Amino acid sequence: MNRANPLGALPTLKLRLAVIIVAAVGVTVASFYAALKLLNVWPAFAGVVAGGVALAVVWVLSRGTLEPLRAMASASEAIARGEFETRVVANSRDEIGRLAESFNSMAEELAQTDRVRRDLVANVSHELRTPLTALQAKLENIADGIEIADAETVATMLAQTERLGRLVRQLLDLSRLEAGTVPLDRREFEVQPMLELAARESRLAQSSNAIEVSVEPSDLTIDGDPERLHQVVANLVENAVRYSPAGGTVEIAARHADAAVTITVIDSGPGIAIEETQRVFERFYRSDAARSTQQGGAGLGLAIARWIVDLHGGEIRPEASEPHGCRMVVTLPSKVG
Ligand SMILES: Nc1ncnc2c1ncn2[C@@H]1O[C@H](COP(=O)(O)OP(=O)(O)OP(=O)(O)O)[C@@H](O)[C@H]1O
Ligand SMILES: [Mg+2]
Repeated sequence: MNRANPLGALPTLKLRLAVIIVAAVGVTVASFYAALKLLNVWPAFAGVVAGGVALAVVWVLSRGTLEPLRAMASASEAIARGEFETRVVANSRDEIGRLAESFNSMAEELAQTDRVRRDLVANVSHELRTPLTALQAKLENIADGIEIADAETVATMLAQTERLGRLVRQLLDLSRLEAGTVPLDRREFEVQPMLELAARESRLAQSSNAIEVSVEPSDLTIDGDPERLHQVVANLVENAVRYSPAGGTVEIAARHADAAVTITVIDSGPGIAIEETQRVFERFYRSDAARSTQQGGAGLGLAIARWIVDLHGGEIRPEASEPHGCRMVVTLPSKVG
């Protein structure tokens, strides 16, 4: 029996309360009887003595039982002030012990959410600052007469503005998807025209990689939001082109498999390392190889793609492609909901 918690060995709160009540009633009766019979005091005085003894017994026995609740109350106040590292001691096996464990896991989740929020703010600020600084430097040079606003300078500034605009659109998209404020506009539609559109857009934007589309059967349909799924394919094709060498071919394929449709985007680049297959879907994650290249991108494309695929009840994962390259597989249930 531990001194701070005399009833600590009892496994449930119910049992502890029962012991406290029985002990209080027992000592009340015993001390009333003793005061009355042995000390011969007045019944009213015996009642007061019995009440006092009962209170002392209840106070001693309930010490350790109520202490964790007091600790949780002050820990809640600390967490409300933003001290997310606060934890309570959870060493009893009863309901209060389980409450303390749940409290600690809730505090851990809050701490984790807070870390993610801080990282997000830091990443967003960093990504916004880079093009803004470049833009400001150019504008200052022009204002000071060091540089003239020739076509090349204006084109550089326009590229930075476009980068900023794209980043803001991506962030808005991600926050809308996460908040669920824009519901999916689901309907049954043909896959081939959507893939052809993504391929045409990519051919217009670049000429370094050939884009091939194959759909089997050719009238394959999906039940989903055509615009959002087009966005997924466009992001995957953009990555395939960005991360593979010039002169390669990017294949976009759609197949029917069991009760699902799979859309695959295959490239002949270096591929995604096995230990990065989950991390590439995190916001702002870019592999070291991708960071070291000058090709832009904030690391949001796959995070957006995964949200859209999740909302459709599907799955997205990278696989190694033979002999090398990346094979992004999106599996969508044929009938959603
Ligand atoms: N096809 C691919 N081949 C090799 N690496 C890839 C491929 N697709 C994605 N990656 C890796 O995953 C990371 C995350 O991809 P994601 O599309 O989210 O970001 P990004 O392309 O860097 O930027 P953004 O899409 O926001 O413009 C990339 O930085 C790259 O390291
Ligand atoms: Mg991308």
